[in-house]
Amino acid sequence: MKKATVEAPANIALIKYWGALDLDEVLPLNPSLSMTLRACATRTTVEPLAGDRDEVWLVAESGAFQDPGEDFAGKVRAQLDRVRSWAGSRQCFRVGTRNSFPSAAGMASSASGFAALTLAAAAALGRADTDRGELSALTRRSGSGSAARSVFGGYVQWPVDPSGEYSAPVAESDHWDLRDVIAVVEEGPKEVSSREGHRRAITSPYFARRLEELVERYVQVQMAIYHRDFAALVPLIEEEAIDLHLIAMSSRPPIFYWNPATLAVHQAVRGLRRDGVPAGFTMDAGANVHVLCEPAAEEETARRLAAVPGVLSVIRDGVGPGPLFDLPHLF
Ligand code: DP6
Repeated sequence: MKKATVEAPANIALIKYWGALDLDEVLPLNPSLSMTLRACATRTTVEPLAGDRDEVWLVAESGAFQDPGEDFAGKVRAQLDRVRSWAGSRQCFRVGTRNSFPSAAGMASSASGFAALTLAAAAALGRADTDRGELSALTRRSGSGSAARSVFGGYVQWPVDPSGEYSAPVAESDHWDLRDVIAVVEEGPKEVSSREGHRRAITSPYFARRLEELVERYVQVQMAIYHRDFAALVPLIEEEAIDLHLIAMSSRPPIFYWNPATLAVHQAVRGLRRDGVPAGFTMDAGANVHVLCEPAAEEETARRLAAVPGVLSVIRDGVGPGPLFDLPHLF
């Protein structure tokens, strides 16, 4: 038993997880493929504690402890219970966590948060050396399927097994240095959760067609990554992002994540391409736009996105090596 700190990054899906075979078991209806980020990350310290109750804190930059509220703390405790039962332990913990990105920026923190928590709790229980695929399955049980992909760096698939439980890398981060310039156009949590989106996906009359088309699109994205073919990747990820939102908008009842600035950013990306700057967008279930590009195009992409009316901030990120262990503790 020891105090352990892990930093896990967020990820952006190129092929999205949207629609579940089993929402409670967190098993998807289709395979997804993402790029693990570097800058947007959650650092979590887990310290063994005497007693029978976990303490959960947000740790400010100043080191001050802040109460995260019962909803957040309850989800953390539920995941600690899963890790304890997996490890056959009854140990309680003090948990402190901090995001590297402003939580008000509307960036999804559940993937990085649950990956950091699960890996840090496993490390605190002396199980850091467990097969990473097994840890991805344990992370997935948090309820955030995308978190299963954040336990690896580079380009990651989930699932990679017929049971749907495990994720695995398809390429390391140094295979292809892609950047992600995130145009933040909405702050705060989204109105409809991903969980609810997964539940409604199958009510869209276009969902069956999506699953059919995904088979080919998935292979094409894998090939584009393998060949580092950015020109081939762009139309695929844009089609995929639009398809995710098409399903959301045509679900019953419909879900609208876009706002007017979302469309303005899409237009700016097409403008960049017209001006010879290769860039392509993708999106999660929210209004913010992730604009991917190669390093030579990053500067101009960031400059142009920052000037789009309605863009509140621009976060510059890129593919990264995955979770980091043995970092300085938060407390
Ligand atoms: C649109 O159920 O993993 O981002 O728990 O909110 O992280 P959170 O969502 P999750 O669904 C992710 C939905 C998605 C696509 C994706 O990341 O694959």
